[in-house]
Formats: sequence, structure tokens, C-alpha cells
Amino acid sequence: MNRSIVCLLLALGLANCTPSEPPAGEIDQQSTKAAKLRKPDVRYEPSPHSVVRAMLTLAGLSRNDVLYDLGSGDGRIPIAAAREYGARAVGIDIDPKLVARARQNAREAGVTRLATFRNEDLFEADLGGASVVTLFLYPDVNLKLRPKLLAELRPGTRVVSHWHDMGDWKPDRMIEVEGRPLYLWTIPNRADHRARGEHLRLRRLARAANKQRRFREPGVITNGLRQAQLERWACALVSLTGAWREAHAAPRIG
Ligand SMILES: C[S@@+](CC[C@H](N)C(=O)[O-])C[C@H]1O[C@@H](n2cnc3c(N)ncnc32)[C@H](O)[C@@H]1O
Repeated sequence: MNRSIVCLLLALGLANCTPSEPPAGEIDQQSTKAAKLRKPDVRYEPSPHSVVRAMLTLAGLSRNDVLYDLGSGDGRIPIAAAREYGARAVGIDIDPKLVARARQNAREAGVTRLATFRNEDLFEADLGGASVVTLFLYPDVNLKLRPKLLAELRPGTRVVSHWHDMGDWKPDRMIEVEGRPLYLWTIPNRADHRARGEHLRLRRLARAANKQRRFREPGVITNGLRQAQLERWACALVSLTGAWREAHAAPRIG
């Protein structure tokens, strides 16, 4: 084979073997993903360490669990889960600076193998791997998150929220630590969840029917008045048509 062809083939081969940067498209995708992260839905405020400990106890955390802290701030909840229980833990936060700080804190605590942190929007995150979820968000954010928790988390997954509840989804337990309420829910199995959904739907219907019943009497009166008015209009119309017919009737022959 010609020497220059051999050199060309070698050069091509080497180019393919060099550890390469991701193709331009991928870089673009990554930066777009980071750029797409919105402003936080909740302002950063750390849970006091005593509350973190109580949240993990309330969740009944064990080393077999995988804990997700949605909106993980400086990482104190995942770090405590890893350090004190040997559990795997994932922190998700939309603020890249807080994610960097949480990773640094995990390094200092020596738990980077167990506690990892992702710079993601919690509403976009895949929660399927969690067996325990912790939250310290706002009431409206909890409510917005509720359908996602019920859809993605496996039955039996425990959800613990610091301070805010989940509307009409009643908690299994509620305790207070340093004057702060902590709530615990367990994700029901799908059949129970559907049954509960149906139960709530029926309850809403019953409430609506009750409300209607309270207004029924005025309704009857209004309907009665409307009917009387319609009857008057109908009579007037009938007599007008009769008069018109008479006036325009063709003259009888013979
Ligand atoms: C009140 S702090 C709680 C921090 C930590 N979980 C704790 O209890 O110490 C709420 C955190 O949620 C984060 N956050 C707000 N909106 C978010 C979103 N859409 N996705 C992910 N993180 C979010 C904020 O950056 C903040 O760190």
C-alpha cells in the first residue's frame, strides 16, 4: 500500500481513538438544559438540624432506603441520611450554586458515594427511584407537586414535609418539632388511590348537590315566574295570530 495512504488511514484511526469532547450538538443540549432552569419556586431556607433528624425519624429511614430531597439547598438532609443511616440519597435543586455547595458539604462529610446532587427542576425530575421523599417547600408548590408524587412514586414510599401539608390529602401522622409541624404520608397502592379518588369525586358531587338543594326554593320560585311569563306570551301570540288570520281570511264564496 502506498505510504501516503497508510499515513492517512493512521491519522483517521488516531482521530477516532482520541478521547473526544461531546459532539457540538450535545454541548448545545447541555447548556440549553441548564439555561432552561427557571427561577426557584421557593426561597432557600435551611431546616434546622434538629428538624432534619426528626424528619428522618418520622420517615422511618433505614439503610435500604433511597431518599430524595426535592429542593435540597445545602444538602443537609441527604447528607444526614447518608451519614447517620447509611442510606443512598439524592438532592435535587434548581439553584446551581446550592448544588455546588451541597456537593462540597458531602465531600467534607465523606459521603459522596452515598449522597449525590442534581441541578434539576423538581417538577421535571424522575422520582421513580425514591423510597422516601423529603420536602420543605411552599403550600402551593406542595399542592402542585402532589399529582406527580402520586403518579411517580411507588406504593409504600414515605413522603415527609416540613411545615406545609398537602391540602385534603390527610397525613398518616403529624408531629411538631420546635413549633414546626412535620407531616408524613405513605403513597397508597394504585387501587386504594383510585378508590380514594372516586370517593373524593363522589364527596364533591354530594357537596355540590347539597349546595343546589339549599337554593332549590328560590329556584322553584324563579322557574315558576318564568313559566307564568312564558304562558302569558304564548296566549298573546295565539290571540294575535287568530286576529291576523281573521283579518286576512279570503272572502267565502257563496
Ligand atoms: C426552603 S429550601 C429547603 C432546603 C432543604 N430541603 C432543607 O430543608 O434544608 C427550598 C429549596 O428548594 C429549591 N427550589 C425551589 N424551587 C425549586 C424547583 N422548582 N426545583 C428544584 N429546587 C427548587 C430552592 O433553591 C431551595 O434550595
